[in-house]
Amino acid sequence: MSYFPITVLLTLAVTTNIHAGDVTSGLMEKLKANGKADAVLSMPSIMSSVLSNPMMSLLSGNDKTNFMTGLMKQMTSASQAPFLNALQSLGVKDTQPFWVANKISMKGVGAPVINALSALPGVFEIREPFRVNLVNPVERGDNSSFSRRSGDAQWGVQRIGACSVWDRTKGDGVLVANIDTGVAADHEALSGNYAGKFHDAYGGHTEDEPYDDGGHGTHTMGTICGQTNGIGVAPDARWVACKGLGNDGGTEVMLSECAQWILDLEEKPVVVSNSWGGGQAGKWYNDEITAWQQAGIVPVFAIGNSGPNCGTANSPGDQPNLISVGATQQSNDIMAKFSSRGPLKGTKTIKPEVAAPGQNVLSAWPDGSYQSLSGTSMATPHVAGAVALMKAANPSITYKQIYQKLTSTTDKPTVASGDLKCSGSTNQKYPNNAYGYGRINVAKAMA
Ligand SMILES: *[C@@H]1O[C@H](CO)[C@@H](O)[C@H](O)[C@H]1NC(C)=O
Repeated sequence: MSYFPITVLLTLAVTTNIHAGDVTSGLMEKLKANGKADAVLSMPSIMSSVLSNPMMSLLSGNDKTNFMTGLMKQMTSASQAPFLNALQSLGVKDTQPFWVANKISMKGVGAPVINALSALPGVFEIREPFRVNLVNPVERGDNSSFSRRSGDAQWGVQRIGACSVWDRTKGDGVLVANIDTGVAADHEALSGNYAGKFHDAYGGHTEDEPYDDGGHGTHTMGTICGQTNGIGVAPDARWVACKGLGNDGGTEVMLSECAQWILDLEEKPVVVSNSWGGGQAGKWYNDEITAWQQAGIVPVFAIGNSGPNCGTANSPGDQPNLISVGATQQSNDIMAKFSSRGPLKGTKTIKPEVAAPGQNVLSAWPDGSYQSLSGTSMATPHVAGAVALMKAANPSITYKQIYQKLTSTTDKPTVASGDLKCSGSTNQKYPNNAYGYGRINVAKAMA
């Protein structure tokens, strides 16, 4: 007769032993020091079961994306329900459940809440939210000498061959997006092609009206599709933007909110340009990247400004399933010193995928002026603009085809001996861990 109760007790004990939530030591220390902390309760990813749903291979286009986001919402909400209920009964109000990744963000919670949550059954981790930085421009150049004659494209736009395809397409209404410090929609370069959607996940303003209190986001968007002074690679593309960062960087919470907002747009952008990142081998944005990929959105990321040493690639740019970008100089396509080099830390995976112009790049600035900046942040939107041109010329082109075309038609500058070492070689060899497959040439990619 005592058989059943014992079994139940054993099962309970075993369950609690195996499936207690982990609280990271970083969060514990923060709680000890400050009493309260922002935290993220992170559960196992649902993406592999979403992707293995048979409907995913039967559907295409918006039907597939809508099915996928619906399933993501359903599955995360089911797995998060016990925690949300617990948070409610603990009186914690400032919570934000996500569906693009299986996690809940909590603001300003104390040790009693964390302890109560961690005692709940399940496989999960409670940690501090990741913080990332803008891939900050490494230097500001002289902006006085640029030509205002219309038709004269800036050096980077010319170098990647964009002008050679402009008689075929300048982007033709294709929708592009960035996640950055926001965009000044009133700048003459960007007012004509704003597509009317802006989201402020950074939370600087109460209204979702476009603004940029940094400048970085206006500059990067200007390079993708600015319409004046030849600054934009795809000047006839239209843009939307999510502000996920300020000059002080951004949090995982803001950046995941931006990823979700982009996936929920009725008209999806063809590319998202990301000139931000930090740390190495960080996998925390990979569900977002996978979801974009499935929705037909090309993820482009800066590789970071932590060069010139080998193994300095930053995350998420150092992750798979995206196009990461290093920066070249105007003179001879020399690799910029600051540009992070591969490989992905602890592996032989080559990073970045490609390189693009990233030194003395002239683009728009929120006060209505133009500024010349240097950084992999400036190289990245050249690639995003190239993707927009390719999509405009061929709307059905897939990520794989874009990747294949862009990486197989690059120009291949001489690799410096220091950079050859990053690929364990003394011979000129492509791909390598400085340029990846080379400096992009969109004219050749579209030939
Ligand atoms: C160049 O930069 C200065 C200072 O940042 C700014 O005031 C000026 O308007 C800029 N020039 C142009 C042509 O945009």
